Amino acid sequence: MNRLIFQSNEELNKAGAGLIISLLHTKPNAVLGLATGRTPTGIYAELVKAYRRDAVRFDHCRTFNLDEYIGLPREHSESFFTYMEKHLFSQVNLSSSQTHLPDGSAADPHAEAARYDALLNSVGQIDLQILGIGHNGHIGFNEPSGALTSATHVVELDERTRQANARSFSSIDDVPTQAITMGIGSIMKAKTVLLVVSGEDKAEIVHRSLTGPITTQCPASLLQTHPSLIVMMDTAAAKLFR
Ligand code: PGA
Repeated sequence: MNRLIFQSNEELNKAGAGLIISLLHTKPNAVLGLATGRTPTGIYAELVKAYRRDAVRFDHCRTFNLDEYIGLPREHSESFFTYMEKHLFSQVNLSSSQTHLPDGSAADPHAEAARYDALLNSVGQIDLQILGIGHNGHIGFNEPSGALTSATHVVELDERTRQANARSFSSIDDVPTQAITMGIGSIMKAKTVLLVVSGEDKAEIVHRSLTGPITTQCPASLLQTHPSLIVMMDTAAAKLFR
């Protein structure tokens, strides 16, 4: 595990984007695993800046997102599809044929999860998977549980997850109760995992995940066993490591 602590979010975001840019320089057809949420927005902003100054291009890469809410139309302001369009896809040379998310508005979400999983399997391996972490230790939407699922699947969202995500909806009642998420197997199969954590509110969970027991009750703890894990934290998130 390579643990990196940054004095500012700006440095963290530049380092995260730098890792993706280096990968695309050495492997232009890399497969990127992307995350949504508050955490990676700064990294995407740095990628957009780099693209505008001609420091990176996305011509040959493909992207696969971790998850999507069930029940929101793609064009809904809070869908992860809209998030990705806004923060990255529409701002760089990534066309819709290169980018993939589960379709949360599919009539049969279980069939859609199976389709997405088959697509992931046809790709083989994600080169670099970006991850945030939930306050309950979830990765993607793999919530704490007595058992975890390897493949892409339909999941019931934890109450804590819905509350955390309610900030972007008008009320908690509008937050979807289900999502489609990549499973633990696809995440763990990625060649490299980049876990990005910022803010003091994540200090306890990231410390417990990376130093505590490996348990399905804290899905991020499984990352301790990943052969190529890079953790980028700001000083607030890393405070229990010092
Ligand atoms: P956040 O979410 O980046 O919005 O804190 C992370 C996550 O829930 O995985």
